[in-house]
Amino acid sequence: MRLGLRSGESSIPKALARRCADPAGGRYKPDDPHRESPDHHRERDMVRRPTLETEHLLLRPFRLSDAPDVQRLAGAKEIASTTLNIPHPYEDGMAEEWISAHQERFEEGRVVHFAITLRSDGALIGAIGLGIDKEHERGQLGYWIAVPYWNRGHCTEAARAVVRYGFEVLKLNRICSMHFARNPASGRVMQKIGMSREGCLRQHVKKRDQFEDLVYYGILREEYEPARAGAQTAVGPDRQGNGQDIPQRSGPGAPSPL
Ligand SMILES: CC(C)(COP(=O)(O)OP(=O)(O)OC[C@H]1O[C@@H](n2cnc3c(N)ncnc32)[C@H](O)[C@@H]1OP(=O)(O)O)[C@@H](O)C(=O)NCCC(=O)NCCS
Repeated sequence: MRLGLRSGESSIPKALARRCADPAGGRYKPDDPHRESPDHHRERDMVRRPTLETEHLLLRPFRLSDAPDVQRLAGAKEIASTTLNIPHPYEDGMAEEWISAHQERFEEGRVVHFAITLRSDGALIGAIGLGIDKEHERGQLGYWIAVPYWNRGHCTEAARAVVRYGFEVLKLNRICSMHFARNPASGRVMQKIGMSREGCLRQHVKKRDQFEDLVYYGILREEYEPARAGAQTAVGPDRQGNGQDIPQRSGPGAPSPL
């Protein structure tokens, strides 16, 4: 897939996909199949893909009508530069093809894709996805945010929600991610969502004739759960009173509450 993700090596059964599509608490709800009438009849027979809500964002399934935005936003050279599988130029038809594969990948239990949209006005601002390896109960996170929206905390907010979905709904044991060594902003997102740096694979991939170092990050269920427990007392206004930041635990690799 074109999110810098690798999909899982094995699939999870449809039953798990159905379980994953069930509501699980107030912040998670199924997508409304009536939202887009042309797909209505086709969607009636489909396993519903999840929608996640956060303070500022709605993470929802992509629709074919998102394709022009995906082509325009993911087509920026800055997005292709630090991802492995996003094409540049992003040609006509590519976004439609990518979006069209999402439902099947979800039903096979291989990947859950989310469009990152702003709750305030519905604007599509990026994409995030979780590749699933059922055999090892492991997820792999990938994401991009449209350039005009960088450095506003959107990716961190989206990634926290998807990590939470991975542990609490999919019941994964581990969620990992990786970034090019020359992309520290992505590494910072991984740190902020509580992942630990696990190492650097030197010249692990070749992109546009250049070998690239890949930095690996991960978080385990056993780290996430204490972090969630900590969140119950840690959540609340920070010293500036804006309530956005959850205090980090001290110490290297300590998970932050999600
Ligand atoms: C990586 C990316 C998703 C980050 O999205 P974002 O919404 O800007 O991320 P956030 O605002 O949540 O967090 C970014 C963090 O990186 C920091 N940052 C930005 N540029 C940085 C740099 N050059 N060096 C170090 N930190 C940097 C920001 O200050 C922020 O950290 P802070 O909150 O501690 O200040 C976005 O830059 C992007 O889409 N890049 C292109 C595609 C890509 O690289 N995808 C990831 C592939 S692994």
